[in-house]
Amino acid sequence: MEDLMADIQGTLIGKEDLQLKCKELGAKISRDYQNKRPLFIGILKGCVMFYSDLIRNVSIDCEMDFMVVSSYGAGKTSSGEVKIIKDTSASVEGRHVIFVEDIVDSGITLNYLINLFKARNAASVEICTLLDKPERRQRDVHPKYTGFVIPNEFVVGYGLDFDEKYRNIPEVCVLKH
Ligand code: IMP
Ligand code: MG
Repeated sequence: MEDLMADIQGTLIGKEDLQLKCKELGAKISRDYQNKRPLFIGILKGCVMFYSDLIRNVSIDCEMDFMVVSSYGAGKTSSGEVKIIKDTSASVEGRHVIFVEDIVDSGITLNYLINLFKARNAASVEICTLLDKPERRQRDVHPKYTGFVIPNEFVVGYGLDFDEKYRNIPEVCVLKH
């Protein structure tokens, strides 16, 4: 039988820490966005687990939407290009947008999306990311809400993949080299 954990070096962020962080971020956002009815836009597919854990800790009126974008080909390196595969269903004009991402790496994806949403006349655009790898930044992107700053290592699990694999591991893990 195939063992999903065979290529995993170890756990970087465990289940309990992930849940505590979602609680903390959800409470913070709920305070900051009172009466603003924020629109949470999840960037699929990596955001799935973080999005669902975060949103159930948001206690104010809000809306949910999703996008599918690709900036990575298969593997670990960015192509530097951003392509929108699925756009939001509703208009974002006048809305307070919060992008929900698994990880900000080069910043190419979110830099592109932020500029695009400003051009679409969103009232405000901020980022809530589970992970941040600032060492790898190529664009000037500063998430308002960050779960964990991590070193320059390739991580998988809790929604994050390597070639579409490992997304279903319930915690953030480091891959063997
Ligand atoms: P950026 O445009 O370089 O910031 O890329 C962000 C996207 O790259 C994320 O949404 C992930 O899908 C992917 N990515 C970056 N680093 C990792 C990693 O360590 N593990 C898995 N996916 C990653
Ligand atoms: Mg990915």
